[in-house]
Amino acid sequence: MTRSSWAAALALTALAAGCGPGDDRDGDARETRRAPTAGPAAVDSAVADSGPAEAEAPPTLRGIMLQLQADMGRVSRGIWAGRFDSVAAAAQAIADHPRVGPRERTAIVETLGDRAAAFQAADAAVHDAAVVLAEQARAGDITGVMEALARLQDGCVACHTGFRDVLRADGGVDTTAARP
Ligand code: HEC
Repeated sequence: MTRSSWAAALALTALAAGCGPGDDRDGDARETRRAPTAGPAAVDSAVADSGPAEAEAPPTLRGIMLQLQADMGRVSRGIWAGRFDSVAAAAQAIADHPRVGPRERTAIVETLGDRAAAFQAADAAVHDAAVVLAEQARAGDITGVMEALARLQDGCVACHTGFRDVLRADGGVDTTAARP
């Protein structure tokens, strides 16, 4: 997929979007989580691949971030262990991170106003970098992996620099619920 089509697919449908089952490109597992009444197999897989909070409600932005952090840890461990397969799996999980629910999405968009598009672009940049990282890992190219990882980290930090404080400070954004 091209960079621009990823960006288009991500625009408001990624981090900051609530999505219905029908518009979820790669969301088999996520749909399963959202439809625990679909049958015993669906319940089993929901239990197997997600935590209890995720099975009940869409993750918060903060919850997604904590998962990204864990996945970045998996990337690092995979690099040190020479395990390209786990680097690829972790990078793919970053690329396919879940989305916030519609209420939080609305709050984020309202808080950011004109800057919402830049927030989405920052999310798309991280997505693209994670896809490249997964590809380089599958190819077993350590140089490519390290370059893609640097771009990915740049993307994380760029969004934090631009948006973390404003989204944190705004009481209308329900990202504080999971905080102590
Ligand atoms: C599109 C913007 C954006 C991108 C891209 C992004 N973040 Fe975040 N991140 C945020 C915002 C906003 C917060 C503050 C959320 C809050 O406090 O509720 C945050 C918070 C965090 C936190 C702190 C969680 C906590 O409260 O302890 C971690 C860790 C984190 N991000 C990791 C990452 C990693 C790793 C990446 C890249 C793989 C990444 N983020 C990419 C916007 C982004």
